[in-house]
Amino acid sequence: MSLRVGSLGLKSTASTWIRFSPHVLCEENIENLRVIVSDGKVVSHLAIWEGWLHFYGIWLKVGLIGCVCTHPDYRMKGYASSLVKDAFAKLYRDHVDFVMVSGARSLYSRAGCVEAGIIYNYYVPLNTLKDLATSLDELKVESYSEDKTSDLIELYQREPIRFRRSFEEFKLFADRVFLAEVEALSISVSYRMNKPTSYVALVKGFFNNLTVVEYAGSRIDVLKTLYDASKDLKVEYVRFPIPYGDWELIILLEGSGLKPKISQAPASLAILNPAIFANKIRPYIEERLGVKANFKVVTHNDGGLEVYMFGECARLRDPKAFTTLVFGRPETVHNQDTIEFDYTSIPKAFRKAFPIPSFNYGLNYL
Ligand SMILES: CC(C)(COP(=O)(O)OP(=O)(O)OC[C@H]1O[C@@H](n2cnc3c(N)ncnc32)[C@H](O)[C@@H]1OP(=O)(O)O)[C@@H](O)C(=O)NCCC(=O)NCCS
Repeated sequence: MSLRVGSLGLKSTASTWIRFSPHVLCEENIENLRVIVSDGKVVSHLAIWEGWLHFYGIWLKVGLIGCVCTHPDYRMKGYASSLVKDAFAKLYRDHVDFVMVSGARSLYSRAGCVEAGIIYNYYVPLNTLKDLATSLDELKVESYSEDKTSDLIELYQREPIRFRRSFEEFKLFADRVFLAEVEALSISVSYRMNKPTSYVALVKGFFNNLTVVEYAGSRIDVLKTLYDASKDLKVEYVRFPIPYGDWELIILLEGSGLKPKISQAPASLAILNPAIFANKIRPYIEERLGVKANFKVVTHNDGGLEVYMFGECARLRDPKAFTTLVFGRPETVHNQDTIEFDYTSIPKAFRKAFPIPSFNYGLNYL
């Protein structure tokens, strides 16, 4: 089977879609591109990407869902809903641990997703970056070119939370575009004594604003690199989404008097099998708590579950409540679905472990 990409009645062209998701709209991923054909043409589409996320030494199998789209003439017939259902069935079959869907719609919450995880959105003015960066004059900042791919890999590999990427994927991602933005990605890499110390990947938006898509390496060098890049790109402030748990970066920014404007979820998330997920993250939880907490989850046929830790038990009626307990709930949510989750009823001991640090898509965005 070969791949032909069309635009399903949307404004963006097929070639933009390919550059937007080069890891997904490719022949190797063809079994993960799910379509509905009607009247002899593709009228609805959904893409899956399956891969691995490294979380503090634990590899979790992750499924990303995106590029969900129905031709305007074929909407409201349940096509996207069937594709989402089919995608979840495939991800279960493939033993995926958790799913990230870019977007917040009841389409996704019906499938078991909830907006969970916390990303703080900072808006950093250039003069704040300048103040933070003044003592770092010996840092050399250069624009990314293909011969620097191994430097990016070296830096990314040091991150406690990251996707598994091949060298080829890294090269593809470094050249990708983000649909909402006008320009391609720009990546700056910093060096000290000829060793890579940080990188920052940025996209420039319609209103001359910059958004950080991904960063890695020394946090203070990240800020200096960001300062140099934003001067070159002639912007006045940078939108800097920082995941819950990156306290070093948060402390550097808050020490300069900044506060996040909002916090939002990185995606709509679903933990597919809470008992298996709990088993997988137990080493992280026990290491963090410093004791054997006997953390485990028992699931029931009606979808309810019990979470055990330190001999205490939290009973949750909805698996979405478990996803919320583990990843946390941001201040701002876009899909007002009600989840039965009362944080105050959770035993205090659990709050030492949850929420776990959040993660962002970075260049793997789908
Ligand atoms: C969002 C989008 C993919 C939905 O596609 P769709 O095929 O119309 O979706 P469905 O028909 O399955 O569901 C649409 C709505 O119709 C309702 N619906 C589903 N089947 C129905 C039926 N047989 N009769 C009447 N209504 C129905 C659903 O409740 C759903 O609403 P909800 O998800 O808000 O609860 C489509 O509008 C689209 O392509 N938008 C532009 C791209 C986009 O925004 N993509 C999503 C990015 S997050």
